Amino acid sequence: MQKKKIKEILQGKVDDKVTAHGWVRTVRDQKTFTFIEINDGSTLKNLQVVMDGNVPNLATGASLIVHGHLVESPGKNQSVELRASEVHVIGTCDPAKYPLQKKRHSFEYLRTIAHLRPRTNTQGAVMRVRNALSFATHLFFQQRGFLYLQTPVITGSDCEGGGEMFRVSTLEKPTDDPSKDFFGKKTYLTVSGQLEAEIMACALSDVYTFGPTFRAENSNTSRHLAEFWMIEPEMAFADLKSDMKCAEEYLKFCVSYALEHCAEDLEFFDKFIEQGLLVRLQNVVDSPFAHIPYTEAIEILKKAPKTFEFPVNWGTDLQSEHERYLAEEYCKKPVILTDYPASIKAFYMRSNPDGKTVAAMDILVPKIGEIIGGSQREERLDVLEKKIEDFRLNKQDYWWYLELREYGSVPHAGFGLGFERLVLFVTGMENIRDAIAFPRFPGHAEF
Ligand code: 4AD
Ligand code: MG
Repeated sequence: MQKKKIKEILQGKVDDKVTAHGWVRTVRDQKTFTFIEINDGSTLKNLQVVMDGNVPNLATGASLIVHGHLVESPGKNQSVELRASEVHVIGTCDPAKYPLQKKRHSFEYLRTIAHLRPRTNTQGAVMRVRNALSFATHLFFQQRGFLYLQTPVITGSDCEGGGEMFRVSTLEKPTDDPSKDFFGKKTYLTVSGQLEAEIMACALSDVYTFGPTFRAENSNTSRHLAEFWMIEPEMAFADLKSDMKCAEEYLKFCVSYALEHCAEDLEFFDKFIEQGLLVRLQNVVDSPFAHIPYTEAIEILKKAPKTFEFPVNWGTDLQSEHERYLAEEYCKKPVILTDYPASIKAFYMRSNPDGKTVAAMDILVPKIGEIIGGSQREERLDVLEKKIEDFRLNKQDYWWYLELREYGSVPHAGFGLGFERLVLFVTGMENIRDAIAFPRFPGHAEF
């Protein structure tokens, strides 16, 4: 017999014989019966188990195997419950010590017990939505003929040029001669798989990566992680317009997939985390994203009936307060900002004819700010060589990137979506440290 998850058991019929596996959420001892709620993470709902008398060591947190049959449930939350014939305590749990004995804990505290927090309703729901969003990602790109490719985690080149890379080394001291290091040169954890994805797109047409990326920026914010997952599609024979179209369709696909397949968890978030979440998400699916060029956005921000902590001027990078104002208050929906000044964007972005801006696009969403960053890539060899010089990068480091522009160069474009920011966007959770099972941020790499 195939092992059934609680999600499936709850859809069973009266008299079905079942075996349930899970962890105890609550135990209520009554004179003749004991009521046990168990959960196995397959659904937010618990399975109610009713047994005669009691078993030793039955306590919150213990793991159980229960045999029995389904009976109609008088409770309003479920139609069936499990009338137990046998209850086996597999792993005991000392109620005097178990940290999750109490019902409600702060998210801050739960982060310190990341080995137990997936047993809470909120973290369980976050993980199920996260799972659905990664499946939706593959569905979306596979249906469109994109190839899923893996790019290296260890790299010798800085894609974003922000100098925010973690060094990878086997040297005794970081100052030792890099030519004596494991790879014979300085290497780092990748900040993005984009440059390698471009190589693949320039042969296989449409590709995407979905992997871990690392940033050593000392950002102690609710939107930054030192290790996060990024989805990076890259398309050959594509310009900024088709890039934006793909990004908007992808975001909408993920949101509608979650609305359809994670209804129970999203209702939970709507009730306990962000009131109005379901309406907000439905609006994302139903209405077209706004489009504003950077230059116009600066004018809007200057005229905003609001004082920002950081002043804005043409040429300054937008802070999260500006991004959120544009998406949350001005547009009241996701907005795509385009044509940023070249000086605040990465070297690989395609120069616009005005000579000052590049064919870049960022998608800003309410509550979060930037969720996607992308661009058309500079495919003209001479222009790219000049940019590498202007950015004071070492041409030798990018010899292969430049050669791509020599042998059958092609207009191409892509973007990167921060997966944990998408999880925040869809669940309404506030802090990115709660959108990944084992968050890494400055001063924190436990578990
Ligand atoms: O805007 P970014 O830096 O763009 C790139 O890395 C490009 N190479 C992507 C591409 O065109 N293929 O990062 C892309 C996205 C951001 O929009 C944001 O959602 C997320 O990655 N992100 C982070 N998420 C969590 N923690 C951080 N420290 C992040 N930095 C960026
Ligand atoms: Mg960006």
